Amino acid sequence: MLKSTQKKDIEGRADIARLIRAFYTHAMADELIGPFFTEVAAINLEEHLPVMYDFWENLLFQTGGYRGGMMQKHFALNDKRKLTPEHFERWLELFEREVDRQFQGPKAEEAKRRAHSIAPSMQMKMNRSFLPMSWFTN
Ligand code: HEM
Repeated sequence: MLKSTQKKDIEGRADIARLIRAFYTHAMADELIGPFFTEVAAINLEEHLPVMYDFWENLLFQTGGYRGGMMQKHFALNDKRKLTPEHFERWLELFEREVDRQFQGPKAEEAKRRAHSIAPSMQMKMNRSFLPMSWFTN
């Protein structure tokens, strides 16, 4: 029997959707990173969310659903308004907080671990002049 305080792990797309939708509610309302979503990219949330579900479902469950091109989107953002280490820190903080609020288990840990390894690699790629072109295709 599960203790009533115990949270479940991320088990599939429906859980990812719950996680990502809640994360976006916080990210878009955040005074530091919110404007990237609401002003710089001015995303259409209902079109954007399924892409994010594909991305995370592919990372955690290898579904092959995400078409790629994540870096190009962030390069374009960075060209319009600089993405700084503080922005990435806040993104990670909000993401991790939401994972922990809703889930616990190996997949929840993996989601946080993947975010923590992708964010610095994105930041490095933003510094394009030092890196070979092959880094920018994904
Ligand atoms: C400073 C931190 C970040 C900010 C402000 C940010 C903001 C955004 C915005 C505004 C978009 C929509 C771009 C558009 O459609 O034009 C986007 C797309 C996306 N972001 Fe981020 N992001 C950040 C970090 C991350 C991190 C760390 C990850 C992954 C762990 C990530 C994954 C994605 C993905 C998968 C997309 C969808 C790209 C596509 O449409 O194919 N982002 N991000």
